[in-house]
Amino acid sequence: METIIYELKDYKRTGRLSEADLDKLRQAADILKNGGLVAFPTETVYGLGGNALLKDAAMRIYAAKGRPSDNPLIVHITELEEMVPLVEHLSDTAKSLAREFWPGPFTMILPRSGEVPKETTGGLDTVAIRMPSHPVARELIRLSGVPIAAPSANASGRPSTTTAAHCIEDLDGRIEAIVDGGSCDIGVESTIVDISGEEPMLLRPGAITREMLGVVLGRPIAVDPAVEKPLEHDQHPKAPGMKYRHYAPKAPMTIIEPTRADMGGHANDGSSMAKKLRELSEASMDKGLRTGIIASDEVCRELIGGSDRLMLRDPDISEEGLKVYEASGLILMDLGKREDEDTWARNLFAALRLMDEYSAEQIYAEGVAQHDIGFAIMNRLKKAAGGSELWLEA
Ligand code: TXA
Ligand code: MG
Repeated sequence: METIIYELKDYKRTGRLSEADLDKLRQAADILKNGGLVAFPTETVYGLGGNALLKDAAMRIYAAKGRPSDNPLIVHITELEEMVPLVEHLSDTAKSLAREFWPGPFTMILPRSGEVPKETTGGLDTVAIRMPSHPVARELIRLSGVPIAAPSANASGRPSTTTAAHCIEDLDGRIEAIVDGGSCDIGVESTIVDISGEEPMLLRPGAITREMLGVVLGRPIAVDPAVEKPLEHDQHPKAPGMKYRHYAPKAPMTIIEPTRADMGGHANDGSSMAKKLRELSEASMDKGLRTGIIASDEVCRELIGGSDRLMLRDPDISEEGLKVYEASGLILMDLGKREDEDTWARNLFAALRLMDEYSAEQIYAEGVAQHDIGFAIMNRLKKAAGGSELWLEA
């Protein structure tokens, strides 16, 4: 199949949809209406969209991603009314969370109605619903006139996609079209909260943080244990997606968790982190492995300053705008300033993908404190590392 690329040239330049852009979106919406698949940008990551009410569209999404069909999809809407026919009942909690966080990077799980085919929900009696804020996503869903099921637009197991180029990498020839609306602002997938049970439960952290949820709920939100700790084989996760290896670059990866003194933020200057990363990467290079480091701007500078192997050279700037320093078997990726965790989140998946492109054979990543968006960053890093973590000594 030939995948059509609809580049929204004016939107990418001005942030506004021109008549020419809308024309392309109308064509993409027609594809969706007729059961075809279209990847499109949202404020979090790119989604791989299909008509949520057609079971065949859902089946095709699983096939295009190579995703197990027991891993349910998120249904995307543009107005609250569109949710009513999809769920059994709209609780007060659902209404207040929707009022606060929609449109935006937030997904709710509720008991589903008979309208939503089981194929869309991976056989579950609940359905995940999100109302995105991205103008392109909203216009595309609106024009299609149906709720749109959309998992992240990556091949199963790979890092989520945050640019159209990433989507082409993973899905070219497997879907009808890709809408290129530039790179995603947030960079990590939506926060997921299950409100189908007695007590709301955070299933996936994201840009709507647990701190923000606590304020709206009036008490701290319960966190599914699978968020912080990879599951054993015989455990059944709440979000079925949690049992699969995720976000993974090809090379094995280890995260260095910050010192306990760092838990309140990034008060220190990163020297101990840089020292640890230097030791680990030199040992890995001594084994002859091409070694990647993903770290903050501050730590990258220390590593460059103190290393004979890392010749001071101008960095490559990746298509996504990431600084990448490369020298004799070492690849250093700069995610941004330590305190600027929004930028870390935006760059994270691009960095994981780039490590494959630079043929890293072993990766080390600087961890962050697990509050605010740092909780989501660490959750994705931990999944990519498959449980390989080290603590920096306090
Ligand atoms: O930001 C996002 O949420 C992006 C954009 C495209 O909207 N979408 C996304 O979808 O990340 P996906 O399919 O990659 O992740 C959805 C997660 C999966 O882990 C899935 O298991 C969980 O949501 N999920 C969906 N429906 C569920 C349900 N009924 N019960 C529990 N977990 C559910
Ligand atoms: Mg995904």
